[in-house]
Amino acid sequence: MNKINKFFIHKSSFIDEKVDIGDGTKIWHFSHIQNGAVIGKNCSIGQNVNIGNNVKIGNKVKIQNNVSIYEGVELEDYVFCGPSMVFTNIKLPRSEFPQRGARYYSKTLVKKSASIGANATIVCGITIGEYAMIGSGSVVTKDVPPYSLIIGNPGKIVGKVDKKGNRI
Ligand SMILES: CC(C)(COP(=O)(O)OP(=O)(O)OC[C@H]1O[C@@H](n2cnc3c(N)ncnc32)[C@H](O)[C@@H]1OP(=O)(O)O)[C@@H](O)C(=O)NCCC(=O)NCCS
Repeated sequence: MNKINKFFIHKSSFIDEKVDIGDGTKIWHFSHIQNGAVIGKNCSIGQNVNIGNNVKIGNKVKIQNNVSIYEGVELEDYVFCGPSMVFTNIKLPRSEFPQRGARYYSKTLVKKSASIGANATIVCGITIGEYAMIGSGSVVTKDVPPYSLIIGNPGKIVGKVDKKGNRI
């Protein structure tokens, strides 16, 4: 049973059973929240977003349109996911040799207040540090230290940012 909280879910979205959604969270059009997901308070989840099984999302997280948060990904408080950015959870995917189930999924942790720009790709198995800023379109393949600015493919550290994201 869904825990009954004061949140908003657009009628075009599907919420599986055993999902916990915090007060004040809004889920917009055509999104799907899968079994076991835990979403914190005051989050904004845009259009066409998929939250996978058992995914944990903190408070005040903003997920923009067309983002899938796959099982194995965790987002801490205040994380920002720009439109159409992409997470992964399998490093070496092969249709011929399926890797289905949590034991196959590499974990990705996005720490508090980190931002991921539009259309960036996060290759799984890494940690993105607090307040890091990932430039749009970057392909991130390695751990990102806190407050780092990453751009490019593969993503490289090109500087440091402050809490508001400005370069320092
Ligand atoms: C390309 C890939 C298969 C390489 O895996 P790997 O051989 O274990 O590679 P490593 O992590 O050891 O990285 C080796 C180098 O390639 C770079 N690299 C890895 N993946 C990259 C990518 N997708 N784009 C650009 N560079 C990449 C790394 O930065 C590293 O660079 P360096 O030698 O300068 O340090 C993997 O990183 C990948 O992209 N997998 C696809 C994930 C995916 O899309 N899954 C979909 C299902 S969820």
